[in-house]
Amino acid sequence: MFFRFQNVGTVASAVRPSAARLYGGEAPRLKTLRTITEMRAASREARHSGKRLGFVPTMGALHQGHLSLVRAARQATDVVAASIFVNPTQFGPNEDLAKYPRSFERDCELLEKEGVEWLFAPSVEEMYPSGAVTWVLVEELSNKLDGRSRPGHFRGVTTVVSKLFHIVAPDLAFFGQKDAAQAAIIRRMVLDLNLPVEITVCPIVREPDGLAMSSRNAYLDPEQRRRALVLHRSLTRVQELIDQGEVSATVLASHGRKEFAAEPSVRLDYFEVVNPDTLDPIEDISNGALIAVAAYIGSTRLIDNLLVKR
Ligand code: PAF
Repeated sequence: MFFRFQNVGTVASAVRPSAARLYGGEAPRLKTLRTITEMRAASREARHSGKRLGFVPTMGALHQGHLSLVRAARQATDVVAASIFVNPTQFGPNEDLAKYPRSFERDCELLEKEGVEWLFAPSVEEMYPSGAVTWVLVEELSNKLDGRSRPGHFRGVTTVVSKLFHIVAPDLAFFGQKDAAQAAIIRRMVLDLNLPVEITVCPIVREPDGLAMSSRNAYLDPEQRRRALVLHRSLTRVQELIDQGEVSATVLASHGRKEFAAEPSVRLDYFEVVNPDTLDPIEDISNGALIAVAAYIGSTRLIDNLLVKR
């Protein structure tokens, strides 16, 4: 078999060195920095003492997926900064900005336990000077997959991530594979703008029944939570077919979509087989593929994917 598969099985949190073990003693106290000046000074301090700085940008409402990024950052770097900023520019006018889950105190406790040293948590006013009209847009890619259903979303993401990179100035930054289109777009942006940061994309973390972890899972009632499993089921079905040797994108996508026909209360947004770097549709998966799905359960939009490596 020449493909390597990842993501569809549940990812246990078994490999989980405690912060104390990583530090060989007490984990450092988390310092919350509210201003760009404070964050820049902290980052400068790390650089001057020759430490490699890892960065985990988030919008808060942290779950095991975020914490897996923090652990990867801890393993790969000397000091870790995270950010919590619910970025208004990546939400459309009818999206969930106002009700996006916020759990700042709990998030701080989790980050401190994981050995994060600095938390950058700016206000909207701190991040966006009044009258701001400058955007970072990764053309072409930003209109694909989620970008097609959420116009302007990726422009908001790339603008805020490039601002965060300028402020935090990390050596390495960590993103989750669940947001596969976001990861591809950020990789492209870093390449195109020659940004001096290395991007690491970490595997999807799943609940024991396979649902990909997401802050938006908190919106689901028990019945919707059950129905949401169709996303994982559709990818599992596709993986079975790949294991049997199927390489046709059309065949794989049609089997994936069929799973949604059996769950009519879930509205499929897209089920696509694309090139993982360009996000363009492909015809066969022999050279690798991203198989990506998005669906609405009530008004909650969830995404999931399967990365097929060559
Ligand atoms: O993936 C997220 O949580 C956000 O899109 C990010 C990267 C923190 C930018 O706001």
